[in-house]
Amino acid sequence: MSKTRVALVGACGKMGALIIRRLLATEGVALSAAFDLVNVGKDVGEAIGAGKLNVPVSDSKDLQSVLRETKTDVLVDFTIASATAANAPAAAAAGVNLIIGTTGLTAEQKTNITEAVIKNNVAAVISSNYSIGVGVFFKLIKDAAKYLGDDYDVEIIEAHHNQKKDAPSGTAMTAAEIISKEMGGREFVFGREGVCPRGREIGIHAVRGGDIIGDHTVMFVGNSERIELHHQAHSREIFVGGAVMAAKWVVLQKKGIVYDMSDVLN
Ligand SMILES: NC(=O)c1ccc[n+]([C@@H]2O[C@H](COP(=O)([O-])OP(=O)(O)OC[C@H]3O[C@@H](n4cnc5c(N)ncnc54)[C@H](O)[C@@H]3O)[C@@H](O)[C@H]2O)c1
Repeated sequence: MSKTRVALVGACGKMGALIIRRLLATEGVALSAAFDLVNVGKDVGEAIGAGKLNVPVSDSKDLQSVLRETKTDVLVDFTIASATAANAPAAAAAGVNLIIGTTGLTAEQKTNITEAVIKNNVAAVISSNYSIGVGVFFKLIKDAAKYLGDDYDVEIIEAHHNQKKDAPSGTAMTAAEIISKEMGGREFVFGREGVCPRGREIGIHAVRGGDIIGDHTVMFVGNSERIELHHQAHSREIFVGGAVMAAKWVVLQKKGIVYDMSDVLN
């Protein structure tokens, strides 16, 4: 059986470099192309310290032509929202399936990507968190929200490293959306300052410091008790395995659909 040909955009970033290393060690997949703003023209393996791979880092302005020339099946994107907003629809128009890990996409950017996926009949997975443990964490908070109901206050606290560009994290936002849906809709309040009586809301708080990979705590607080669910990432490898799994999975799925990580895990 032929290998699934996977390209990376953000290839020289923290996540991109780890995903390339994992692709090299995974059966049934091959690295077809690499894109980044940095190291353009260099061999991507040498750029990330993995040894020569004979795959150059390309400029994403050449995204469509390189994806076509390299017969890429899937583009994996871990960059920044403005880059993904441009690159994902361009890749879809070149007939390439998508795995999007970038967080901080606006609702409008997500809608544009979804429209491009439908129009070009490709498949995509968009997930704020590719960790299998977080997939379970999302199921647990959904259940907690369902059983506890509207009498409980909900606070979400996330912590990440000091280089993270967006806040709050995509995972915290996904958690808030899951809980709000289960509780019939709640307002999101980001941090609090000054006079701010609590309403029918979910409080969302972002901590930034040092090299924290990603912590998420959801507190369901009642009058005489509280439940706290906590997920802590010890290593970026937890996202890497899920992203590679999703890349192998997405090529086999019905096209014209945007999936999330719960579809991959199911
Ligand atoms: N979904 C998940 O499971 C998950 C896990 C970890 C990180 N993330 C998200 O992935 C993204 C990347 O995280 P990171 O820690 O690897 O960041 P990083 O800053 O280390 O890497 C980002 C890379 O993207 C490149 N880039 C930026 N704009 C580009 C463009 N226009 N074209 C090509 N390349 C471009 C940068 O040069 C850099 O190499 C962030 O949005 C982060 O929140 C998601």
